[in-house]
Amino acid sequence: MGEYKIAGGYPLRGSVSVGGSKNAVLPILAATLLNKGTSVIHNCPMIRDTAISIAILKAVGCTVTQDGGTITVNSKTADNNLVPDELVREMRSSIVFLGSVLGLFKSATISYPGGCELGARPIDLHIKSLRSLGADIKEEGGLIICKADKLTGAQIFLDMPSVGATENAMLAAVCANGDTVISNAAKEPEIVDLQQFLRGMGAMITGAGTDEIVIRGVKSLHEAEHTVIPDRIVAGTFLAGAAITGGKIVLENVIPEHLSVVSHRLCEMGCAVNEYDDAIELAAPGRLKSLGRLRTQPYPGFPTDMQPQFMSMLSVADGESLIEETLFESRSKHINELMRMGANITHLPDGRTSIIKGVKRLQGATVVSMDLRGGAALILAGLAAAGKTRVIDSKHIRRGYENIEGALASLGAKISYSDQA
Ligand code: EPZ
Repeated sequence: MGEYKIAGGYPLRGSVSVGGSKNAVLPILAATLLNKGTSVIHNCPMIRDTAISIAILKAVGCTVTQDGGTITVNSKTADNNLVPDELVREMRSSIVFLGSVLGLFKSATISYPGGCELGARPIDLHIKSLRSLGADIKEEGGLIICKADKLTGAQIFLDMPSVGATENAMLAAVCANGDTVISNAAKEPEIVDLQQFLRGMGAMITGAGTDEIVIRGVKSLHEAEHTVIPDRIVAGTFLAGAAITGGKIVLENVIPEHLSVVSHRLCEMGCAVNEYDDAIELAAPGRLKSLGRLRTQPYPGFPTDMQPQFMSMLSVADGESLIEETLFESRSKHINELMRMGANITHLPDGRTSIIKGVKRLQGATVVSMDLRGGAALILAGLAAAGKTRVIDSKHIRRGYENIEGALASLGAKISYSDQA
């Protein structure tokens, strides 16, 4: 259990570079299994989830080396179709290895990832997609056991545009026999980045970024090199930090269009946002304005991964706001902690709607991070609060943010992290 110590009231000022995307690098690392050769991946974020992905690759027999943000995987030596239970438990998104392990070995065994702090996190769409491609899938004893004599291209319709299910279908289909069409596919930039990497390995795949992805199965894939896109949620989190502290920052190494809906909502809250080719500048107003209604939706809608951070900002905005979390049934564990800091939030019985009445200023307190983005939201609240805040964290935040305390301190925040709470 670690903790972040923050002294509030210091506006963020200056510039910071954004690292590679967690939600892009995870499926790309899973995809390195498919070419039975070498892949070189640049701009990987050095976060816990990357380390867990490397551990999974090694556990299935790959050779993996890391030089800073560059990870080199040789999957020629991969020889084990079992994804270790302890790693799946630590990172539920390891489910994305199901598609690539199955694609490589025509069999895969992985423990059921189960829910997490955000809710049930079902995987029925993953299972349905892989069955469409010809996999025989049994769920017994908490394990998902997949076998396929061969994988055959299919028409896959996703009942909802699940990011993970889209990725698993792509990974299993690129070397299947025949053509696959994934309809109602997720359109996130991370899906497009995965397609770019797969194409770099010789896959015949088009349509990522739209709701229909078309794949023509190929016999084999070859070695590839790829640079991961910047993390749009880390970028949005820093913008929110500048907004809530009344600061002015420049984010470097970003793709502005990946977070245009976030920038648009920040403008509605009174921020001045300027977008450049690979940078975004934000200047905050004296006091943020409230938002009548903020509803999370699949990309290109407002991202659920920015909902907690916006709740922190709206807690000190001028007026009343309403947030609807439509994707996860319990992405609300940060609410009670914000209320400990003086936020005025009513969480409705539907479990998805919150009404936030902005207060002039939050008060520093000791709060507990319950999940990755909720923890980031508490750090943002501490940056703006009067007095000192301690964010007790069971390593959630470090799963998705590389040295967040160092980046924020470089922008003038008074923040430190210690491993021992
Ligand atoms: C990915 O999770 C991201 N994680 C999440 O980011 C992100 O919040 C989410 O997409 C939505 O954008 C990674 O990419 C590693 P989904 P994923 O499948 O794939 C339901 C973060 O903070 N669903 O798109 O698990 C599900 O219950 C994390 O970085 C099914 O019903 O999300 C949810 O309501 C948190 N059946 C909705 O779809 C399924 O088989 C969206 O889930 C799969 C999903």
